[in-house]
Amino acid sequence: MTIVAMWCRHEGDNVIGTGGSIPWSVASDAKHFLDVVKGQTVVCGRKTYESFKDRTLPECEIFVLTRDEGYAVSDAACHYAVTGLKEISEVVEEKDIYIAGGAVIYDLFMTGKEKLKPQVVVDCVYAGEMESLAEDVAEISVSVKTLEKNYRRISPFYCQDGVKSAIYLKKGEFVEQKVLKRIVEILEQNAVLA
Ligand SMILES: NC(=O)c1ccc[n+]([C@@H]2O[C@H](COP(=O)([O-])OP(=O)(O)OC[C@H]3O[C@@H](n4cnc5c(N)ncnc54)[C@H](OP(=O)(O)O)[C@@H]3O)[C@@H](O)[C@H]2O)c1
Repeated sequence: MTIVAMWCRHEGDNVIGTGGSIPWSVASDAKHFLDVVKGQTVVCGRKTYESFKDRTLPECEIFVLTRDEGYAVSDAACHYAVTGLKEISEVVEEKDIYIAGGAVIYDLFMTGKEKLKPQVVVDCVYAGEMESLAEDVAEISVSVKTLEKNYRRISPFYCQDGVKSAIYLKKGEFVEQKVLKRIVEILEQNAVLA
């Protein structure tokens, strides 16, 4: 099945977060993320999970990576704490999965086992001002280098509210058209194409 990674990074320095949140607020970009993951199976790190409002994402099944074997999720019916990638390897046999960060998790998937490398990356780049950064800055330069080397852009740039988004496909991979079509339809709403 298909593995999709989606992020919004700051132009130039690839910062995606600080102090447990994202240091900018662009409503249209946040909506794109929620629309893309809606009804899907999401994988994220424990810190990102705790950054979601009410520790949930509407209509999503969520796999939370944590090394804490006793970690309590907010909704035991459809959120699962997992301590390694074995469970994720099994899930991807049956379902598409959406990698939702943060930096540690993007890097883990983008540079890790071949079987778990995303075939599709939705690369959103924010060019505006950031709020002040805390000591812990999450940045994804390693993932971006991998993107530049191993992926090719298959969409125009969708520009909206200072965010420029595009879809990348891992070189040599083929992906179900319906996965791409759904993402394109979400990104192109109200966007200026470049
Ligand atoms: N702009 C964006 O698109 C975007 C997207 C997502 C997140 N963010 C931001 O990114 C920041 C969080 O990113 P982050 O890199 O600091 O943290 P993270 O990737 O969300 O979570 C890291 C945690 O995941 C767990 N983990 C990592 N590797 C693991 C492995 N191999 N096996 C099991 N568990 C593992 C550990 O949890 P334990 O400590 O519990 O063991 C680790 O502390 C926040 O500021 C968030 O707002 C931004």
